[in-house]
Amino acid sequence: MSGPRPLRRLAVFCSGSGTNFQAVLDAQPASAYDVAVMVCNQREAGAIARAEAAKVPVVIEPHRAHPDRASFERALLEHLAAYDVDAVVLAGFMRILSPVFLQGFGRPVINVHPALLPAFPGMHAARQALEAGVAETGCTVHLVDEGVDTGPALAQAKVPIAPGDTEATLQARIQQAEHQLLPQVLDRLAREGLSGSGAGA
Ligand code: GAR
Repeated sequence: MSGPRPLRRLAVFCSGSGTNFQAVLDAQPASAYDVAVMVCNQREAGAIARAEAAKVPVVIEPHRAHPDRASFERALLEHLAAYDVDAVVLAGFMRILSPVFLQGFGRPVINVHPALLPAFPGMHAARQALEAGVAETGCTVHLVDEGVDTGPALAQAKVPIAPGDTEATLQARIQQAEHQLLPQVLDRLAREGLSGSGAGA
């Protein structure tokens, strides 16, 4: 019987501290997914030590070493070819991926974004929410398409905005929600594949 392809073997892409990556690692023993490699575009990223501590292979590919986005993305694809992953997870990866990567990879790419998309796409989502004066914001795990934060949502979690919140306090509360949501969604995708995956599922 053939069903949707389970997304078990993951490459996680990071640019920064990697707290979402850590949440994915921490939940891995009780989950159906396996992190095969962590790919990072910043040599100073905190995510690197997290991968090393968990004995996850690390690839460091600085985008600054490339003349253009396409060259960087072709290098990412070459690295991934060695790991045969079912999906890429963007966990605080701060580069936009063009069709060179998305079509070249040809498998699902999943992103976590600190807002209830389609609200507040792009950078500084918590700041955007505060400036908009909304009562709540949240986080979204979604499939990546060729737009910026435009792909279909797989799941969302709401986060209330408290009086006196600053960008930092709100971002921290959103991240706590991300740390719950992202591993849950990845476990589901590892068991069930993409079928039936929707924000309300
Ligand atoms: C996360 O909050 C993630 O949602 C955000 O960067 C943070 C990375 O934190 N991503 C974006 O804003 C992408 N548009 P982390 O490195 O500690 O996981």
